[in-house]
Amino acid sequence: MSKNSPTFTCTTCGAAHRKWIGKCEGCGGWNTLIEEAPLSAGPKALGGKGRAIHLTDLATIGEAPPRASSGIDELDRVLGGGLVPASAILVGGDPGIGKSTLLLQAAASFSRHGVKCLYISGEEATAQVQMRAQRLGLTESPVALGAETNLRDILTTLDTERPGLAIIDSIQTMWLDTVDSAPGSVSQVRAACHELVTFAKRRGVAVILVGHVTKDGQIAGPRVVEHMVDTVLYFEGERGHQFRILRAVKNRFGPADEIGVFEMTGNGLQQVLNPSALFLSERGQPSPGSAVFAGIEGTRPVLTEIQALVAPSPLGTPRRTVVGLDGGRLSTILAVLEARCGIPFAGLDVFLNVAGGMRVTEPAADLAVAAALISAREDVSIPPETVLFGEISLSGALRPVSQTENRLKEAAKLGFSQAIAPKGSKLGQVEGMNVRQMPDLTAFVGEMFGAG
Ligand code: TYD
Ligand code: MG
Repeated sequence: MSKNSPTFTCTTCGAAHRKWIGKCEGCGGWNTLIEEAPLSAGPKALGGKGRAIHLTDLATIGEAPPRASSGIDELDRVLGGGLVPASAILVGGDPGIGKSTLLLQAAASFSRHGVKCLYISGEEATAQVQMRAQRLGLTESPVALGAETNLRDILTTLDTERPGLAIIDSIQTMWLDTVDSAPGSVSQVRAACHELVTFAKRRGVAVILVGHVTKDGQIAGPRVVEHMVDTVLYFEGERGHQFRILRAVKNRFGPADEIGVFEMTGNGLQQVLNPSALFLSERGQPSPGSAVFAGIEGTRPVLTEIQALVAPSPLGTPRRTVVGLDGGRLSTILAVLEARCGIPFAGLDVFLNVAGGMRVTEPAADLAVAAALISAREDVSIPPETVLFGEISLSGALRPVSQTENRLKEAAKLGFSQAIAPKGSKLGQVEGMNVRQMPDLTAFVGEMFGAG
């Protein structure tokens, strides 16, 4: 590739192409290529010898990294037990979901716990950030604030200030004068991220980068950004709900899939320490189509209500509308119900929803989904003191799931007294909980709804 010919870079995988084509050869994505400044050719021929690197054996264990606590329990848990020095964290989320609010509160909280914090905003003027701080009641916290987008200036500032934590809001607004393209472009985002991560490792400064999210829910810019950082967190929530969920999708220093639950209020985000109670709080009288799922999110049990509505369809192809669950999983469960239990859903519209704006990804939710669907179809309520969990296999058998005891304990704590679980589950000792174990879906339908 000649040095000055334009390059086309895929916005999803970062693959470089000589000319524009509709389909990326790297990842197969359609219409993802954009024109970019040519990439640098890299170092010429390797000259001279390198230094020998220091090698060690597997037995020598370094000390676990000391972690700084923010005092916000929900945040600390998602980080894997606090902030690891010199780590790089990417926080993604839809515009307006509350990323800046969360990070300003986090900065204030960390600074009150003795971590020197620097908050650099590339999107808002300092006055705007100060106004938000006032609204949040954080003006007393010793956070150093800057509004800048030139990364060279920011790095110089970080080098002299040497904070424990630097927050960059957002990575898409940062630009390097060595890269010849607009801020927010693939090469700028990649270069800016690389500079900041390298700086974090070299100088022992933890950095949190805010990342914008594209229409289909991925962090805008090349996927490589997610590989460069140690931890990727998504801040998500449904519009019209005040709940916000901070979810670890990658964490080199803790469990992935951990969630922290927050509520957006008039004066900022409040942490929700008992999410199950919150997600179930809107549950009224027992009604058909509602089932309570005892789930696990990361290391914590969370109870959620699965709601289904089944109605005759005026359409040739009935609707299948899902919020908070996987649509493919719904199709599978509907097929199993029809093939193994003789409960057809042909000609019926099916709407499925997780109450409270929560997103459930565990296969253990299958049984609760099936129960909600049958309950809606047969117009029979599930007893309100019952929780369900279990994975459904294609044969219609129920498979045990992990952490049964934790699920049951959480349910008992919230006043549930009945549970339906797959046969062979490791129940443990849970007081006040009557567990019925079912081998397959047919047995479950017979027992709950009195039909085979
Ligand atoms: P913001 O943190 O600016 O979102 P992001 O950085 O992800 O784009 O949050 C903006 C939204 O949060 C805005 O719609 C108003 C709302 N909000 C509150 O409801 N209460 C508050 O105390 C604050 C600061 C914001
Ligand atoms: Mg913002």
